[in-house]
Amino acid sequence: MEVLIARPHELAGLAADAVEDLLRTRPDAVLGLATGSSPLRVYDELADRYRSGRVSFARACAFTLDEYVGLPAEHPERYRNVIHREIGSRVDFAPGAVQSLDGNAPDPVAACRDYEAAIAGAGGVDLQILGIGSDGHVAFNEPGSSLASRTRVKTLTRQTREDNARFFGGDAGAVPRHCLTQGMATIMAARHMVLLATGAGKAEAVRQLVEGPVSALWPSTLLQMHPHVTVLVDDEAAARLSLADYFREASAAKSAVPAG
Ligand code: GLP
Repeated sequence: MEVLIARPHELAGLAADAVEDLLRTRPDAVLGLATGSSPLRVYDELADRYRSGRVSFARACAFTLDEYVGLPAEHPERYRNVIHREIGSRVDFAPGAVQSLDGNAPDPVAACRDYEAAIAGAGGVDLQILGIGSDGHVAFNEPGSSLASRTRVKTLTRQTREDNARFFGGDAGAVPRHCLTQGMATIMAARHMVLLATGAGKAEAVRQLVEGPVSALWPSTLLQMHPHVTVLVDDEAAARLSLADYFREASAAKSAVPAG
């Protein structure tokens, strides 16, 4: 696990660099797109780089991580709409190249199974952008999630509904109770994960993610078992890391290592 501690706008640049580098070497890459506020600067940065001709998504495709159950099709917080607004419509993805879970599917179990098949059919995710919930969830894999889980229906915790109330006029009661989410095993199959976390509210989740014991209580800790994870955090989110000084030294020393 590589942990880089930097300022929020620098973190977005580093995440965008990873996407740009991938698309340069593999224009038909499969991306994994996260919602939440953490990746928004990354999407801004990618939209800028697309406009200036640095990067193209024309041959790429993407899968979103999760979706609320039961929001009306036009609801602005439906994750399908969020991803379209924040990144899908701002770059040159081909029509239909960004796929997402259908939170209004008549048969949610079948929708989850089909989604797994679609990801596998695309060859798996090359680069997954991730955020992290204050309770340690990734996508919507809440505490207690099976670390071997696949895409499925989940019930949101009160904490997550309170955290996400800001997107629903401050009313936690307006946040759906259920969701569809890629499972932990689904996410772990991505070849590279880039996780962003900023602010003091994420400090404990980041501590557990990087230094805690692997546990279903903090599902994101499973990422410790993945060979290629990049954790991008600001000073506040890194505040509880006992290894913070080491991570700072390692990233400073890294720029001194000759490439290749
Ligand atoms: C949401 C999403 C996650 C996201 C997390 C953190 O509930 N389902 O994919 O990573 O919460 O969100 P934020 O970045 O806004 O803190």
